[in-house]
Amino acid sequence: MLRTHNCGELNLSNKGQEVTIAGWVQRSRDKGTLLWVDLRDRYGITQLFFDETSSADLIKQARTLGREFVVQVKGTVIERESKNLNIPTGEIELKVSSMNVLNEAITPPFTIEDETDGGDELRMKYRYLDLRRNAVRKNLELRHRLAIETRNYLDSLNFLEVETPVLIKSTPEGARDFVVPSRMNDGQFYALPQSPQTFKQLLMVSGFDRYYQIVKCFRDEDLRADRQPEFTQIDCEMSFVEQEDILNTFEGLIKHLFKKSKGIEIPALARMTYADAMRYYGNDKPDTRFDMKFAYLKDSEADSSMWKGNGEGGAFKVFEEAELIAGICAKGAASYTRKQLDELTDFVKRPQVGATGLVYARYNEDGTIKSSVDKFFTEADLKNWANLFGAEKGDLMLILAGPTDKTVKALSELRLEMGTRLGLRDKNTFSCLWVLDFPLLEWNEGDPNLLASLAGRWHAKHHPFTSPKPEDIDLLKTNPGAVRANAYDMVINGVEIGGGSIRIHNKDLQAQMFEILGFTKEEAQKQFGFLMNAFEFGAPPHGGLAFGFDRLCSLFGGSDSIRDFIAFPKNNSGRDVMIDSPSEISDEQLNELSINVVRKEKA
Ligand code: AMO
Repeated sequence: MLRTHNCGELNLSNKGQEVTIAGWVQRSRDKGTLLWVDLRDRYGITQLFFDETSSADLIKQARTLGREFVVQVKGTVIERESKNLNIPTGEIELKVSSMNVLNEAITPPFTIEDETDGGDELRMKYRYLDLRRNAVRKNLELRHRLAIETRNYLDSLNFLEVETPVLIKSTPEGARDFVVPSRMNDGQFYALPQSPQTFKQLLMVSGFDRYYQIVKCFRDEDLRADRQPEFTQIDCEMSFVEQEDILNTFEGLIKHLFKKSKGIEIPALARMTYADAMRYYGNDKPDTRFDMKFAYLKDSEADSSMWKGNGEGGAFKVFEEAELIAGICAKGAASYTRKQLDELTDFVKRPQVGATGLVYARYNEDGTIKSSVDKFFTEADLKNWANLFGAEKGDLMLILAGPTDKTVKALSELRLEMGTRLGLRDKNTFSCLWVLDFPLLEWNEGDPNLLASLAGRWHAKHHPFTSPKPEDIDLLKTNPGAVRANAYDMVINGVEIGGGSIRIHNKDLQAQMFEILGFTKEEAQKQFGFLMNAFEFGAPPHGGLAFGFDRLCSLFGGSDSIRDFIAFPKNNSGRDVMIDSPSEISDEQLNELSINVVRKEKA
């Protein structure tokens, strides 16, 4: 070994010892006769010390050290005069007796310290330098710890980790595939797996009973802070289970991870149906760290007196014309200034949010209620609203009106925004939830993340292997949109952390599902024949789920971006700016693959 100790472990108990350490030069301070150098490695920082008793050559050598030089030093551990109690090595320093420069370094493009001057793009380009920083390294350490604890937990329950192939077959369902041309099979392509879904089901047919894999998945979809084109799942499957067994097993995993990595005992997970999540939060992954449920002034159930008022003020056209009117009650926000309310109006009018305007009503401390629509509604009308909203003195009611889907979505965004503004979304508070009874199917009007050929047909909300609830099977023929699935998501703080389902294990039901999804018998056989055939050889009842491992890490690490927890992530255009990928390949490579590239005209 080139060292006897690392840079994070020496302290007063080592006083007087002669040691050798190695690392990177973080910074130097030269006070003439006294010279200090901070030496960093993965474990910490140790201060090196040179003074007038050091040899002239050694001092000279120390003065040549630049930032990020790699050095090995030998010396004696001494007690520091001015101590830094903020770091474990802060009471000692190393009086250097000899030094060996292992490698020089050019000046890094940004400072490699906790507070760096490097912008996002620059740090991504030099990710290997960014990874020297504490914050980023700690994130990867957390990731490692969570992976180990996941394996420990699942291993203790008899789960087997089995690897499944990465070069598989493209299917039109789900998100777009990344494809890989096959040189040996002219004109044919593999696809990278969006998940090992069908393989884990086949493993159940093989009798593996309990499978898991911490596995890379690939999806060619629009990217966001919580989406990467390649990401990692904790993918699991079990045989001879019902939904309740899966929920309990993986609730156990989450509890184990919270306990082991954060020392937090989380209570039993709350449960909510998809229908309630949509009704009360306008969202299938509600952030339940705070309440602020939707109240409805106009929908199929609300009394028309709510949105019409008692008529004294005359009709409010926006409300008259709206398909849906709903709102939220922001506790203690009646004191919001005009400026703050204007900001909220601007917020809901953003194209990403999509509302046309915002109606508000303040329930003042003196008991009066003043609204932005006082012209149309009497104080008595507004009191009725307050009752419906559960608003009290000091509260602010915020109301949106318009087409149903758009209004629900916008109100959901406004709710999250108010949660943030009111400080109700603390990163150290965790609210975990199962969302149950998802619909089996949804009508695809033309989802930009799906192939255009799938528009105008039913689409599996989770995936085509998800089983319908037995009591809803008859609806498959008459009202497919109303069929509920044995499908569940785990949601933590408004993030979909994982999801899964009880699968179809009957060949005929699986064939019916493909038919509803618009596959001809031949197409279904061609795409998924291997699975349907396997179901003829004794498929056990089975189900499972997959956690988004990157999302889990970022949640535990208190960050909104999964990129911070991936060693070498891609940017929002799907590029790795460090290795400059994707990139063109040579004509020779293209020819071998029989690929003719016809470039799209740039607009
Ligand atoms: P699903 O598609 O819901 O289910 O994915 C499971 C979990 O993976 C995470 N996830 C992502 N994380 C980062 N970037 C992405 N692009 C991305 N896409 C998904 C989410 C999600 O909850 N085979 C099924 C699971 C099953 O039924 O067992 C599946 O893949 O956290």
